[in-house]
Amino acid sequence: MKEMKVSKINNGTVIDHIPPGRALEVLKLLGITGKEGKMILVAMNVTSNRMKGGRKDIVKIEGLYLSEDQIRRIALIAPTATINIIKNREVVEKKGVEIPDEVSGILKCSNPTCITRNEKVRVASKFRVINKNPLRLQCVYCESIIEEEEISKYMVT
Ligand code: CTP
Ligand code: ZN
Repeated sequence: MKEMKVSKINNGTVIDHIPPGRALEVLKLLGITGKEGKMILVAMNVTSNRMKGGRKDIVKIEGLYLSEDQIRRIALIAPTATINIIKNREVVEKKGVEIPDEVSGILKCSNPTCITRNEKVRVASKFRVINKNPLRLQCVYCESIIEEEEISKYMVT
């Protein structure tokens, strides 16, 4: 038996299978505060058979469709996420997010003395994905590591 956690939406985007506890980080990276006036439904730490640990978060935003750049950013915070595009109450498209091999821009290096943090030199940040699950990134310039749980802290908005 499947139980509805939050009501369905008519048109917009459902970001499902977010790792538990990260829904607010997803909203933050999308730049959504709630002041936009769009209807937003958030469920946190709800049961899920499919997710490791048995829990997930869900974010539903009425009237919003995501850009490719926004989906790339979601992949870094919520690598297990499924993006569902809803039109007239139907799921018209469902896509997983993809973890890239390399991340340029988007994140700032965790090392304050990294060349990419020097405002005079202006070198764009670049990280290699050295592990996908859990996600672990390494700065190409100074070799500093960013762990999955810290990613939202270093995301540039
Ligand atoms: N959904 C919604 N509003 C709609 C249609 C779907 O909020 N009008 C939500 C569902 O509640 C679910 C997600 O969008 O969280 C995906 O819907 P669906 O593909 O029907 O569910 P599942 O088959 O369970 O998806 P999956 O296989 O990805 O778990
Ligand atoms: Zn660095």
